[in-house]
Amino acid sequence: MEHTRAKWGSNFGFLMAAIGSAVGLGNIWGFPYKMGANGGFAFLLLYLLLAAFVGFAVMLGELALGRKSGRGPVGTYALLSKRFKWVGWMGVLSGFFIMAFYTVLGGYCIKYMVLNIGDMFGAGFGSGAFADAGALFGAFITNPLEGVIYTVIFLAITMVIVMGGIKGGIENFSKIAMPALFVMLVITIIRSVTLPGAVEGLIFMFKPNFKPIQENFMQVLAVAGGQMFFSLSLGMGCMMTYGSYLSKKENLEKNSILIIVADTIVAILAGVAVLPAAFALGGEGAAMAGPSLLFVTLQNVFGAMGAIGPFFGFLFYLLVLIAAVTSAISLVEVATTFFLDRAELKGKKNASRKKYTLLVSIVMLALATIVAVDGLGSNGLPTPLGLIWIDFFDLWSEGVMMPLGAMLMALFIGYEYRVKKVENGVTMDGMLLEGEVTESGYRFRSRGFFDVCCKVIVPIAMAFILLVQIDGFFGLGIF
Ligand code: PFF
Repeated sequence: MEHTRAKWGSNFGFLMAAIGSAVGLGNIWGFPYKMGANGGFAFLLLYLLLAAFVGFAVMLGELALGRKSGRGPVGTYALLSKRFKWVGWMGVLSGFFIMAFYTVLGGYCIKYMVLNIGDMFGAGFGSGAFADAGALFGAFITNPLEGVIYTVIFLAITMVIVMGGIKGGIENFSKIAMPALFVMLVITIIRSVTLPGAVEGLIFMFKPNFKPIQENFMQVLAVAGGQMFFSLSLGMGCMMTYGSYLSKKENLEKNSILIIVADTIVAILAGVAVLPAAFALGGEGAAMAGPSLLFVTLQNVFGAMGAIGPFFGFLFYLLVLIAAVTSAISLVEVATTFFLDRAELKGKKNASRKKYTLLVSIVMLALATIVAVDGLGSNGLPTPLGLIWIDFFDLWSEGVMMPLGAMLMALFIGYEYRVKKVENGVTMDGMLLEGEVTESGYRFRSRGFFDVCCKVIVPIAMAFILLVQIDGFFGLGIF
């Protein structure tokens, strides 16, 4: 089983890459609005409970299994349990589905950076010709060719980084991009909260309101759970893949906690950056969620800011682009690692990361082209299962395959693989490297908690979330 595997250059580099994967579009447009609409602080409390009792165990489980096997999800399950191998496949497939829409939205960010540069210089490619951001966005998404071109640019950036390898590409990029993202976020927050009327946005987001939870607990639970999974990049083998490149010296428990805490903090900060501005200048009735929040409401905000607006617009879309790129590279890496693992198992000597990354990117582009041409449902493409294409890919990945993947992994660890019962002195590696010499020397402090989470809490929570999704989708009216 011993094989030489690429490694992260440092634990900090790994953390930047893993936090980069977690921090993405989900944090910026998903979390703030969902928190505001589902109970403010009350929602945050529920989210934190879910992160602690479900997210932590799944994060730790993925990192540990990946590090143990030294392979991505397909390789990991193939090595540890033939019965579960398809769960690994499902993870890789989820990655393709997420990328189908993620790349298109990443491309939109590049388009909006270009637009704001145009506005800075009063150039013809600015937003000048349009009455407002709604008209601008409408014209953009109904132009399939432009959508595809920006998707290709986004995917090309992602591909080049992944081709650079774990340390040379992903880690080096993340080590610069993530701190830069943080600085840009702070600048955006300062501008946003000092706009007149900004406080409305903060009230919307933070004011505790237990009503939604009392009235429809299951629904709120499903929203919080789905958001947490997507936001933490869990349930599809992404963290397993990143964990497989991590040295045995590092402390997985500490890393899991740091990733979860950082992701949650950025989600909250993103809300403080986005909602006050949207409320201050977007006005009543403006879209506060999803693509329209980013590309209509906020672009209107930048338009209303005067001469400095395009500068903040550029900065903001660059911020979102960086968040999207560091997530997209992790999704491409899951599929690239799959091919690299397979080549190694087959004993291929000349396996080329570049070649596999290119292949993966081409397939992702094919899927993304459908979403780009569909233009958020505005170009009349046939709708699968009555959904527009972006929602179709989102529902299957985020709504079904990721919670299912997490549930099955927890069951696998809890009942088949089992947390090793040994006396004191058990270490993180001891949990997973039965009988082997441990290298990290860290005590596995949360072993009992982790065991209960895997055996009971995660499977039950995931089963509920899946049920609510299915219920909502088929309109069964159970919840
Ligand atoms: N965590 C990313 C976000 O919040 O936007 C999305 C994501 C990235 C999900 C990577 C899954 C994944 F493997």
